[in-house]
Amino acid sequence: MVPKISIYPDYNTMSSAAADRVIALLSKKPNAVICLPSGSTPLGMFRALAAANQKGLVDFSQCVYIGLDEWIGMGADDDGSCRDLLDKDFLKPIGFRENQIVFFDGKAMDPEAECVRVNKIVESLGGLDLIVLGIGMNGHLALNEPGTPWDTYAHISELDALTAEVGQKYFQKPTTLTKGITVGIRHILESKTAILIGAGAAKAPVIARALAFPVTSEFPATVLQNHLNAEFILDAEAGKELNQNA
Ligand code: PGA
Repeated sequence: MVPKISIYPDYNTMSSAAADRVIALLSKKPNAVICLPSGSTPLGMFRALAAANQKGLVDFSQCVYIGLDEWIGMGADDDGSCRDLLDKDFLKPIGFRENQIVFFDGKAMDPEAECVRVNKIVESLGGLDLIVLGIGMNGHLALNEPGTPWDTYAHISELDALTAEVGQKYFQKPTTLTKGITVGIRHILESKTAILIGAGAAKAPVIARALAFPVTSEFPATVLQNHLNAEFILDAEAGKELNQNA
């Protein structure tokens, strides 16, 4: 299926549209299983969701939140970790209870067992109702780096040099990033709805490739071309290399 493409004039309208998809799902299915990313791109969506929550326009109290990924060696107490950012930007402002949150522990003594733990929970919940993804500058989805086989559920990934470099933006001081723990491509493909959010001109070339390249594990975002219900929600800058007439 060709992913649906929705382009909005600016970051705020793009963010509100992404938030609206989450709100619509929760109004239809209050106990939905949602997997939302950390990073720069979702900040506006989180602000819109927190505002809607304040106004009583959405109810998160019955849903389950699954963390998308984490840096190996990091946890909630590490400034800039995925859990730290999610706590500050989304989970705490909304008021999620700890028993609604399933998050990879990047400090787990046995990371493989941590993958199994999360896989079992996601499976027992019947899979992900909604996954929202950013896109990396190398085409990664979550921390599924180029070359990740498509039959993977949660796994440990060896980070690309580009991911380790771009990832510095989340930290106050230089931080060595070598491995990640992440939901897998199968989680993405089996999710009922997958939304890729993209903002800013820097993402325009990778977003164009995600849609135009033949589907290849060398560019993980192309896998969304095989998803049965995927949507790209973009601001105009991120969408500017797409040929809307094609
Ligand atoms: P970003 O991260 O939203 O901070 O650009 C996206 C990603 O690397 O998946």
